[in-house]
Amino acid sequence: MKTDEIRLGVNIDHVATIRNARGTNYPDPLRAAKIVKEAGGDGLTAHLREDRRHIVDQDIKRLKNQNLLPLNLEMAVTNEMQKIALGVLPNAVCLVPEKREERTTEGGLDVANSISRLKAFIDPLKRNNIRVSLFIEPNEEQIDAANVIGADIVELHTGHFCDLYEKKDKEYTKVIKTLEQAANYAFNLGLEVHAGHGLTVESVKHISKIPEIKELNIGHSIISDSIFMGLRGAIELMKQKIKEARF
Ligand code: PXP
Repeated sequence: MKTDEIRLGVNIDHVATIRNARGTNYPDPLRAAKIVKEAGGDGLTAHLREDRRHIVDQDIKRLKNQNLLPLNLEMAVTNEMQKIALGVLPNAVCLVPEKREERTTEGGLDVANSISRLKAFIDPLKRNNIRVSLFIEPNEEQIDAANVIGADIVELHTGHFCDLYEKKDKEYTKVIKTLEQAANYAFNLGLEVHAGHGLTVESVKHISKIPEIKELNIGHSIISDSIFMGLRGAIELMKQKIKEARF
């Protein structure tokens, strides 16, 4: 298959995490969004959590109104979030499992065991031209289920791979194979393939080699690197590492 450049969606949640830590109105995620665009980022990703621990409703509205880059709204499968998405009309929603007590999104969405509920949930989103992405573990059962319900995109969870990679546990090479097979399987079904969670400038080179992946969504490591090199520098470096691995 022809290998195109990978799109980078920058998750700006942690700009809001810092803001909310002090209850100030800075740093402003919108200011970050402008820098994402200037630095060559291809999209903005933000997770409106049930507990609003970082991004809040107003951020989503402002990001959409500013319309700098395509907005990917990560959200749980709840009536509240569906209503918000239908009001804001982001370019895409990425449905994720969400538990209040978790630090970040742990594990993928169990699509296979909630086919009819998820189909009913995504239908109004699709009717309103919102692209629907499902954040899933890289296995065929979940990919088949995503395809059956009519998702446009699957975002493959790279968290397990990244955990092993950070621990220098060689098992990560096996998980890479699983991700490769899953990406290929999903692509052949006609699904657009994204990936994300836990990726850094080091681990991203392995994932970027998978030809079927069209987009990566990365937040924590970019915002972390931005402390030392500025947000623009951190995004440019990530883009460079992705490009080097792919071509
Ligand atoms: N993709 C999804 C679906 C996520 O939930 C997250 C975390 O919000 C990410 C990507 C980005 O993960 P990280 O912040 O670890 O780069």
